[in-house]
Amino acid sequence: MTPQLNARGDVAVLVPAAGAGLRLGPGGPKALRLLAGEPLLVHAIRRVAAAPSVRMIVVAAPAAEVGAVRDLLAPVAPVTVVAGGAERQESVSLALAAVPDEIAIVLVHDAARALTPPQLFESVAAAVRAGSPAVIPVLPVVDTIKEVGPASVTAPEGVAAEIVLGTVDRSVLRSVQTPQGFRHHVLAAAHAVAADALTDDAGLVEKAGLPVACVPGSELALKITRPLDLVLAEALLHVI
Ligand code: C5P
Repeated sequence: MTPQLNARGDVAVLVPAAGAGLRLGPGGPKALRLLAGEPLLVHAIRRVAAAPSVRMIVVAAPAAEVGAVRDLLAPVAPVTVVAGGAERQESVSLALAAVPDEIAIVLVHDAARALTPPQLFESVAAAVRAGSPAVIPVLPVVDTIKEVGPASVTAPEGVAAEIVLGTVDRSVLRSVQTPQGFRHHVLAAAHAVAADALTDDAGLVEKAGLPVACVPGSELALKITRPLDLVLAEALLHVI
């Protein structure tokens, strides 16, 4: 039996899943790549649906796959599936259009972060409920980060023609995950005026001059982007 969502929940979760996923190597759309025998999107939606505050889930699928994605997710959770766009931001806008006004909180979650635990949806939603217009889950940056620019001398073949311009103070840097949470009207207003395509939705809210609050992210919310990430995710499935 398909698990039901909470009819009294105050959260809609938008899942942009229309990307090609070229960095993962050749194959179909990334959200439909298999992890331990099941598409990434199935892993992701199962965890979204297990978050108690979630009342509605909207997936933006590749236009050619809308019917297939509907069939795929029907046994997993009640999900609205719409056709995505050419850019992630457009896919989010198209999914947002399906959310009724009475749902107060909207979370945006990448299908590629397929192992994100249900608790992270709850903590992001709780911070929005507590008064933040926008909330993002973050982790400290572990690597040293350098700013680089083009080198003035020609590099030998196979060596990047870049030179270090400076070292950034990593103590003030954070890596940003999803789900990102918003008051519904804040996200709708930010998307309505968005001019340039950004890689995350909180960036649109920042541009509108509103504060974006941070909550602790999760190692399990890693973004499955490159072939090695699939290996890591499969190993994690055995220990969570
Ligand atoms: O390309 P990137 O890894 O940043 O994509 C993040 C998420 O946005 C993925 O889940 C991907 O499927 C989705 N996406 C989308 N529509 C696009 C491009 C990406 O829904 N046109």
